[in-house]
Amino acid sequence: MSNATIGSIGIIGAGALGSNFARVLAKSGMAATIANSRGPASLAALVEELGPTIKAGTVQEAASADIVLVAVRWVDAEKVLGGLPAWNGRIVIDGTNPVEFIDPASPDANDASNPLAAYGIKAADLGGQHSSQIIAQLVPGARLVKAFNHLDVNVLPEPEVAGGKRVLFYSGDDATAKAAVRGLIEAAGFFAIDLGTLDVGGPLASLPFGALAMHNLVRI
Ligand SMILES: NC(=O)c1ccc[n+]([C@@H]2O[C@H](COP(=O)([O-])OP(=O)(O)OC[C@H]3O[C@@H](n4cnc5c(N)ncnc54)[C@H](OP(=O)(O)O)[C@@H]3O)[C@@H](O)[C@H]2O)c1
Repeated sequence: MSNATIGSIGIIGAGALGSNFARVLAKSGMAATIANSRGPASLAALVEELGPTIKAGTVQEAASADIVLVAVRWVDAEKVLGGLPAWNGRIVIDGTNPVEFIDPASPDANDASNPLAAYGIKAADLGGQHSSQIIAQLVPGARLVKAFNHLDVNVLPEPEVAGGKRVLFYSGDDATAKAAVRGLIEAAGFFAIDLGTLDVGGPLASLPFGALAMHNLVRI
């Protein structure tokens, strides 16, 4: 599948997730515009490495694509997504997970009730919501699909392994948007599994406590 079928792709965030997602697209010959907080010039080495289909742009440019991957840390999501162009039904792929890094000098570092403290992270306080409900409020008018968030991103550039295809989950409430993201996942060489609505699939595949989070499955 080419961009002609999928539409344009933007990536907000060029760290571990954003850069590896771009790497996956580049390997499949798909085009995208990638952005970070420091501006396109700071991404010169990355786009040079990834080749001609991946362009560095501003956040506004990346956010104007038909499909936009949000690949920023949970604590930055509200700031990044505020003030972007109207979504008008365009597709947002939420690649975030609601985890926060712990300041080693804060009381959180010694919170015995946090099973993740040893890893230097904690679950974000979502006020009783699940993370897609919060991201949905930050992208009003977008069609939200949760995907590309359940694995350590270092495995993403190898969609085909051990005689099979690596499994990626996706969930969402809009059938057409889900079909587009499924097409993107499959075009990149993965095996796509539909986990249902955001209410069901989002929490299942989200770190830190989703039952399917971090399960690196291969469809033989
Ligand atoms: N790492 C993983 O294995 C993994 C796996 C699955 C899901 N995720 C999720 O993916 C998300 C990103 O994680 P990551 O590991 O990729 O984080 P990361 O390596 O720290 O990258 C974060 C990116 O966000 C950008 N950013 C921050 N504030 C911004 C702003 N105001 N405008 C534009 N860009 C901004 C940063 O740009 P600058 O560097 O220029 O500030 C950076 O490129 C998180 O929600 C995480 O839970 C990560």
